[in-house]
Amino acid sequence: MTSQANKTLRIAPSILSADFARLGEEVRAIEAAGCDLVHFDVMDNHYVPNLTIGPLVCEAIRPHVQIPIDVHLMVEPVDALIPMFAKAGANIITFHPEASRHVDRTLQLIRDHGCKAGLVFNPATPLEWMDHVMDKLDMVLLMSVNPGFGGQSFIESTLPKLRAARKKIDDYAANGGQPIWLEVAGGVKTGNIGKIVAAGADTCVAGSAVFGAPDPDGGYHGVMRALRTAARWAGV
Ligand code: DX5
Repeated sequence: MTSQANKTLRIAPSILSADFARLGEEVRAIEAAGCDLVHFDVMDNHYVPNLTIGPLVCEAIRPHVQIPIDVHLMVEPVDALIPMFAKAGANIITFHPEASRHVDRTLQLIRDHGCKAGLVFNPATPLEWMDHVMDKLDMVLLMSVNPGFGGQSFIESTLPKLRAARKKIDDYAANGGQPIWLEVAGGVKTGNIGKIVAAGADTCVAGSAVFGAPDPDGGYHGVMRALRTAARWAGV
């Protein structure tokens, strides 16, 4: 059993799979269904081969929910967008270390604007990028797909990488370090969330699994219950 047993599991639906014509309604519905974060995927058609949403959309959904907005920047360069998202109401901002020339400075910039800061690891990106900035991390996001699209299949080799990240974070905490959330994004479903949590994740992003399974009344209570039940089998 991993050391994060008995900790609450955070579920963060990715609005990339939501109905953009009704985004305010959609985020209110996932909050009402008990999700913990709104996951906000930002793509610039440069760092990744897709183009999605920016600070204006973050500002538009902010008044609709109380829960934190978790902004994942798949952009290059990174720094200029940080003050804009902080002003737009983001609570957490994560970025890819390969997209910043000065990772330590970019993490500090996020914290200087009052947000939690984090690094994102593509499937092939080594975890060692975090070794010299652990003190500036509030979140580590492991991508279990190559970033750029929702609805892709979970890459199984993420599981041993998750265990390694969990060990790094727990060892750091055991030596007096601050808590660091361990998030996974890409292909998370009711069928695999149990093994993902058992491998060490405490925060799970789910896009198509949530927005692809609305209740008859348009809410998301059913799928949120199903995800939490499946995770409970992993002892959380
Ligand atoms: C992919 C994004 C993920 C994605 C998750 O680049 O970073 O957050 O939207 O969507 P699903 O759960 O459908 O894989």
